Amino acid sequence: MLINLDESIELLKSGHVVAIPTETVYGLAASITSPKAIEQVFQLKKRPADNPLIVHIATNEQLRDLITEMPEGSEELMRAFWPGALTLIFPANMTRIPAIVRAGLPTIGIRMPRHSLTLELIKATDPLVAPSANLSGRPSSTCPEHVIEDFGENLPILAGGVCSQGVESTIVTVKEGRWKIVRLGAVSAEALQRVLGYEVWNFQDDTAVFDKDKPLCPGQKYRHYAPSARLILDSMPYAGSPKIVVGFDGRDYPGAEKIFRLGNVNSPNSVESNLYAVLRSLDTEGIKEAWVDINFDHHGPLRTIYERLKKAAS
Ligand code: TXA
Ligand code: MG
Repeated sequence: MLINLDESIELLKSGHVVAIPTETVYGLAASITSPKAIEQVFQLKKRPADNPLIVHIATNEQLRDLITEMPEGSEELMRAFWPGALTLIFPANMTRIPAIVRAGLPTIGIRMPRHSLTLELIKATDPLVAPSANLSGRPSSTCPEHVIEDFGENLPILAGGVCSQGVESTIVTVKEGRWKIVRLGAVSAEALQRVLGYEVWNFQDDTAVFDKDKPLCPGQKYRHYAPSARLILDSMPYAGSPKIVVGFDGRDYPGAEKIFRLGNVNSPNSVESNLYAVLRSLDTEGIKEAWVDINFDHHGPLRTIYERLKKAAS
């Protein structure tokens, strides 16, 4: 059910869950001061309790009592990328942030979304916890229709249109005194490196991020972004036999029965904003198996798309 800003403020303040737009993907939000609503977020999403939530703020003021320390480089990152698609992991103020939000960790992921309605909303309420507004494992939601697909007509959704970015925020944490990417996302490694002046993503070895016992980003161990269809990723040019193709504008897939187009590979931002809608439409069209064109360079924003497709296929 689509609602407006005032209705959203009312509902969040009185302990209800509301789906909210951001520039990355829709979030399933609850006020940080409403433990019942936070529990409901986990239940609605069928989210494992060991997977922590991101806190969304609207002003730097709101950050102050959520954390105990500002690691070196955080101010530069906030200045460069907030409001925007970068989540920073900070040491958490454990008395202010309920353990359920942190999944028991001593840290907290925080970002300031770049969406005017949602910034107004957060200014009028308290900071909001919000995981992506999809059932666990499913592709994220980039418009209200996707949220309705997963949660039905009764869930209140702050009407905010289509997400401009279309993939989740990049998440960074401090390891051995330096910021490191633990989830690729809408802000590229290259952009972060320009601000920090050092490498933030070890292209050869991401095992620490995906460590099964003590992951730097707990969510990474779960299946993600996946439609029901089986995806066959292929980095070779199309050779003509698969029937259903997920591919790019301006490329020929002769003989394919149906082509789902992600946009132009030379315009990664358009591919980002189409990605989840395409993965979701495979399901709405009842596709069982699709061949996916991954014949592209995995640099900058395309690295995030490549990684999401890999996860969706795994
Ligand atoms: O763009 C986004 O980040 C969207 C919008 C709604 O803001 N949110 C989002 O939330 O993608 P979610 O819950 O789907 O993904 C958050 C990821 C999870 O993989 C979780 O494990 C990780 O962030 N995370 C949260 N808190 C963390 C922490 N303290 N340490 C490490 N990873 C954390
Ligand atoms: Mg998610």
